[in-house]
Amino acid sequence: MDFRRISSLPPYVFTIINNLKITARREGDDVIDLGFGNPDIPSPDIAVEKLVEAAHNPKNHRYSLSRGLPKLREAVAGMYLRKFGVTLDPELQITNTIGSKEGFSHLMWVLLESGDAAIVPSPSYPIHIFGPLFAGADLRQIPMRSQRRLLSATDVDVEYQDEFFDSLQKAWEVGWPKPRVLVISFPHNPTGATVDLSFMQRVVDFCREREMIVVHDFAYADMGFNGYEPPSILQAEGAMECAVELYSMTKGYSMAGWRCAFLVGNTEVVQALVKLKSYLDYGSFQPIQIAATVTLNEAHDFPVEVCKTYESRRDVLIDGLDRIGWSIPSPRGSMFVWAPIPEPYREMNAVEFCSHLVTECNVALSPGSGFGPGGEGYVRFALIENEQRIHQAVRNLDHGLPKL
Ligand SMILES: Cc1ncc(COP(=O)(O)O)c(C=O)c1O
Repeated sequence: MDFRRISSLPPYVFTIINNLKITARREGDDVIDLGFGNPDIPSPDIAVEKLVEAAHNPKNHRYSLSRGLPKLREAVAGMYLRKFGVTLDPELQITNTIGSKEGFSHLMWVLLESGDAAIVPSPSYPIHIFGPLFAGADLRQIPMRSQRRLLSATDVDVEYQDEFFDSLQKAWEVGWPKPRVLVISFPHNPTGATVDLSFMQRVVDFCREREMIVVHDFAYADMGFNGYEPPSILQAEGAMECAVELYSMTKGYSMAGWRCAFLVGNTEVVQALVKLKSYLDYGSFQPIQIAATVTLNEAHDFPVEVCKTYESRRDVLIDGLDRIGWSIPSPRGSMFVWAPIPEPYREMNAVEFCSHLVTECNVALSPGSGFGPGGEGYVRFALIENEQRIHQAVRNLDHGLPKL
């Protein structure tokens, strides 16, 4: 049998490394997993307590609202005003999604169809590439190179930003039909690249002029280091005309398994997703929505603490790698470190190098090529083990990579 959408998918390269990890662990090896970006920090107590309490109430066992309870949407509006100074109408400009991955995928169905085109950076979080493809659209990929080290909260890599807009312009000019959608995500997974509000303003101006919709996946909204605060695209002037943003509770609130995120911004786009989702689901389990509401309203400091944890893990990793001869620019956001394969090992591609790391060093990383062709030659460390384990990972790398 041929399942057209599925059979055209390339093999998921992360599975290769994951299988090696499972085999090594079965043989008794203590593999340190810095591969999958699955947060290890427990969710806030207040979320767990509210979930339990609400789950005891049978009223909450029925179907809920796909777009989210009114109080939940109000809590999101409150957070956007507090954190970004952005005013959102909870009725029209906010909808709940079952994680940002679900929201993004279905949003692509809304925005794109066969014959349309979308501009997507490479490397990217895989669903940014496959979401438009599943919707039948063509991709125009633009390169996302790694960024130089940004030292302060306000430092800007001007060259990086200019290169991005040159590539964007070229992707727009080449071919027909003209792209309808631009996908961006900063702080960026996997490269850790960060941008400032003037970058977001340029994106908004670009898209407004060309009647494009820009989708900003803001999964790492709370993950800015060295005092850097990631901007929301909705802070840019005119953004409400062309931009939507996905804000997730997965990373900042460490609520990955809860599947709770929001699409916010342009009314028409948000309402189009509301309409599609009203056909597809009945929303998240109501106790989850209630717990998320209380958490957003009351646990303001939680993301700050989570961010500090990732920041010090980043320092331990970057300093450790530097000591063993693998120097990498320190990222100012996200929960990843994006590293070029060290010179003496460059004859290996990313999958081969990561396989080598599992078998020789007991360290599992993600091969850059899993994030699109632009990621070949790189590996991604996810900061999802504690500092002691990261120290151990560095020691393992030191022993297992003698050519460093
Ligand atoms: C850029 C990006 N978007 C979305 C997600 C998934 O977020 P959620 O759990 O809200 O679906 C991730 C998770 O790693 C991510 O890196």
